[in-house]
Amino acid sequence: MPKKKRIRIQALSSFSNVIDDPSRFKGTWNERVFQNDHPITLEVGCGKGEYSLALARRFPERNFIGIDLKGARLFIAAQNALDLQADNIVFVRIHAEKIADVFSKNEVEEIWIPFPDPYPKKARKRLTSTKYIQLYRQILKSDAGIHLKTDDEQLFRFTIETCKHENCIIHEMIPDLYQQGLSDELLHIQTTYEKRHLDEGKKIKYVWFSV
Ligand SMILES: C[S@@+](CC[C@H](N)C(=O)[O-])C[C@H]1O[C@@H](n2cnc3c(N)ncnc32)[C@H](O)[C@@H]1O
Repeated sequence: MPKKKRIRIQALSSFSNVIDDPSRFKGTWNERVFQNDHPITLEVGCGKGEYSLALARRFPERNFIGIDLKGARLFIAAQNALDLQADNIVFVRIHAEKIADVFSKNEVEEIWIPFPDPYPKKARKRLTSTKYIQLYRQILKSDAGIHLKTDDEQLFRFTIETCKHENCIIHEMIPDLYQQGLSDELLHIQTTYEKRHLDEGKKIKYVWFSV
């Protein structure tokens, strides 16, 4: 592992906005971490946290938690959030498979999954596979929304099929966001990934559903 990456991963635990051993806060994130009763939005696979940090700045009356496997990316996310003095966002280094160990039933009010890895050959690893939908069900409020943005046609279709199989309610399904026109100003937030896909001429797809 490159030295810079190793140093960043080691430094993660020194950040006030990176939560170590997150399962100790299961059921008490608002009370013990944010010290308010604002609704919690989760970004699964947040990378450098660009999406959730942009949301956190727009919605100071909500709380945001970004989770990702990769410590070096979370280092950048946490540093940027501290630089911007965003106190309604924290980051957690976990595998998304563990979310039901970290959040309790009804604790999360919304999930964003912008530009997840499409895993073309490993459907079960996709963050909108049946396994993950069932995990999201264990932590979300019943009417809560899940938002997926992707450039990947296969992942887009797979998500819609999984939603049908799992009896999810699809609220909105847009195969080409920028052609159709954005119904929600939130969809204007663009991470580095999205900008790169747009530069390459790819269509951005969006699905909003409840589990
Ligand atoms: C393509 S990046 C997108 C990052 C971010 N959402 C954005 O739009 O800028 C996908 C991220 O998902 C993370 N990831 C993939 N599978 C994951 C999993 N099972 N649990 C947690 N993070 C995951 C990767 O480490 C990576 O940072």
